Amino acid sequence: MAPQKAIFLFLLALIANSASNAFAGNFYQDVDITWGDGRAKILNNGQLLTLSLDKNSGSGFQSKNQYIYGRFDMQLKLVPGNSAGTVTTFYLSSQGAMHDEIDFEFLGNLSGQPYVLHTNVYSQGKGNREQQFYLWFDPTKHFHTYSALWNPRHIVFYVDGIPIREFRNRESMGVAYPKSQAMRAYASLWDAEDWATRGGLVKTDWSKAPFVAAFRNYSASGCVWPAGASSCSSSSNYWMWQELDAGSLRKLRWVQKNYMIYNYCTDVKRFPQGLPPPECSAR
Ligand SMILES: *[C@@H]1O[C@H](CO)[C@@H](O)[C@H](O)[C@H]1NC(C)=O
Ligand SMILES: *[C@@H]1O[C@H](CO)[C@@H](O)[C@H](O)[C@H]1NC(C)=O
Repeated sequence: MAPQKAIFLFLLALIANSASNAFAGNFYQDVDITWGDGRAKILNNGQLLTLSLDKNSGSGFQSKNQYIYGRFDMQLKLVPGNSAGTVTTFYLSSQGAMHDEIDFEFLGNLSGQPYVLHTNVYSQGKGNREQQFYLWFDPTKHFHTYSALWNPRHIVFYVDGIPIREFRNRESMGVAYPKSQAMRAYASLWDAEDWATRGGLVKTDWSKAPFVAAFRNYSASGCVWPAGASSCSSSSNYWMWQELDAGSLRKLRWVQKNYMIYNYCTDVKRFPQGLPPPECSAR
């Protein structure tokens, strides 16, 4: 190939690439604002979404598409300053009493005190699988990426690409696993002053309202339902059989050792028979 032609193709590829990034995650196309009466706003041509909370209401949105399996990423910048009592969420959920759910919930705090990242996994209506973490950065200063990987083998929670929690498929041990109910992605900002901060000891300071959390760069790569398997072609579904490699497992252990503050698996008070649930067993 002539050098000029190669350079030209290279530049073309660059342009195409930056264009696809620019349009990755357009909130106008990807989500519906579902509640909050004007408190949720899509800005910057669909590149930014803000949720706000005041004494009368919070706000929220949901993805237009539903999925069975996929990889979901969202960048969040949490409520700054005194955010005590507020809860910002990013989660996947199906509908109904026997629903499946994969939760990130960010529990606010007084200025300078750490947020708690609360995670949970529901399968067929059963939750009570909480793990909580502190973060290794201030989540109110910059956007950070929070991701959920959901495939037939496991569910993995990531923060900035670092795995913080893995929920393995333990159907073989009788634990229901999310696999047949389509889930949507949701996000919300609401008030939970009766339990969120230090178990409800610290209340929301409404003189600081409205509280605002920002979202950007949502991306979902998954099997869109009801189109089903046909919608996740083999070229794009790298996540379908993805496992944690040795480096990822090292990072997971680092987070769990240094930043995990609650793990239901080791909360013996919650297991009357003294045995942790089967999904807690080692890999
Ligand atoms: C808030 O800060 C207190 C004091 O540092 C801490 O114990 C607590 O875990 C923090 N987070 C929440 C959500 O209560
Ligand atoms: C947006 O997300 C994609 C992947 O989900 C990532 O490659 C890209 O770097 C992100 N953009 C920004 C500005 O962080």
